[in-house]
Amino acid sequence: MYDFKVRSNIHDYTVSFITDTLETLDRELGEGDYILVDRNILELYSPGLETTLSKQKFIIIDANETQKSYAGIIPIIENLILNGFRKNHRLIAIGGGITQDITSFISSVLYRGVDWIFFPTTLLAQCDSCIGSKTSINFGAFKNQIGGFYPPLKIFINTAFLTTLPPEQIMSGLGEMCHYFPIAGEADFIRYAREYQLAIQDPTVMEGLICRSLEIKKGYIEIDEYDRKERQIFNYGHSFGHALESLTDYRIPHGIAVSYGLDMANYVSVKMGLLEESIRIDMRAVLKNIWKGTSISDVSIDRFLTALTKDKKNVGTELRLILSEGYGKIVKKSVKLDQKFSDIIQQYFREELSK
Ligand SMILES: NC(=O)c1ccc[n+]([C@@H]2O[C@H](COP(=O)([O-])OP(=O)(O)OC[C@H]3O[C@@H](n4cnc5c(N)ncnc54)[C@H](O)[C@@H]3O)[C@@H](O)[C@H]2O)c1
Ligand SMILES: [Zn+2]
Repeated sequence: MYDFKVRSNIHDYTVSFITDTLETLDRELGEGDYILVDRNILELYSPGLETTLSKQKFIIIDANETQKSYAGIIPIIENLILNGFRKNHRLIAIGGGITQDITSFISSVLYRGVDWIFFPTTLLAQCDSCIGSKTSINFGAFKNQIGGFYPPLKIFINTAFLTTLPPEQIMSGLGEMCHYFPIAGEADFIRYAREYQLAIQDPTVMEGLICRSLEIKKGYIEIDEYDRKERQIFNYGHSFGHALESLTDYRIPHGIAVSYGLDMANYVSVKMGLLEESIRIDMRAVLKNIWKGTSISDVSIDRFLTALTKDKKNVGTELRLILSEGYGKIVKKSVKLDQKFSDIIQQYFREELSK
């Protein structure tokens, strides 16, 4: 329906919206290709998926952060090498961001690079991570520390997968999606605010939002694929969000942490005189619905401030934060981690969060 192409320094790739996953899989699968499939997807979509997979070699992926680590992928690489996977064969990933990161990382290093194809099954992977080429895996307990850039050849999005996705994962996807719309501008944020709840019931509305998120992301990754300048704007909500994820031991899913992070970024922006309070309030009304049912009130403020300094995008002692001057005016700022900044964060946790 809304197929498009993404230009990349590595190789261009296509995104197609489909309704027939098994037929598309059958058509794409070549001899020797290996499928890496999320265990929950295999269970939920069998016997249909199992029948297709029985004709092909496949590896089951447990979608957890331990599997997505330097040690966790060793058995997968061993399996591929020992069982006849060759450079001209392809890896086919079916799953969310974890399955994607494992497959893309292995594809980028095995035999100096093999082709891979992606069927994203979570909202987060469909609206965001499937494009952009990033391939990070964890090193022990250190998240996303090893990786590079290596896109798939083709991405096939079937929103029917979202019918089985747990509500928390849907909210996480909506939280991730939310950071794209205010970056694009006021009209886009208004659209998101009008449609995000409707999208949970209506696949056509959801497809429209997914497509727009990807379109906004495409505009930046095509000019700054390697995340050196323009693309860094997508760190909006993420510096704060990453700190929250790590301090809650990843109990808060990524996109929900981002929704808190966006609210914090807006709060800091207002306190620094960059953003109008009315915009912050409008966005907060939406963000609160995304994080509803979760809590970060047990997070220690001191540990939060320390975690912020660990963000890999910082340079030297200053924090590099993405803040807001309004819709369509998201900006990168260097901020000193001084008493003033720490007072703003304390105030946020003590007074704002519970409102
Ligand atoms: N490479 C990138 O650009 C990028 C961007 C953002 C996030 N990530 C990474 O993605 C990971 C998170 O990925 P995610 O949020 O997509 O989820 P995930 O892959 O962790 O999956 C979440 C859960 O949903 C299950 N699941 C997947 N699809 C399902 C479906 N259709 N129905 C029912 N259950 C389903 C999985 O088995 C798992 O239990 C993190 O490791 C994060 O670091 C990567
Ligand atoms: Zn994100």
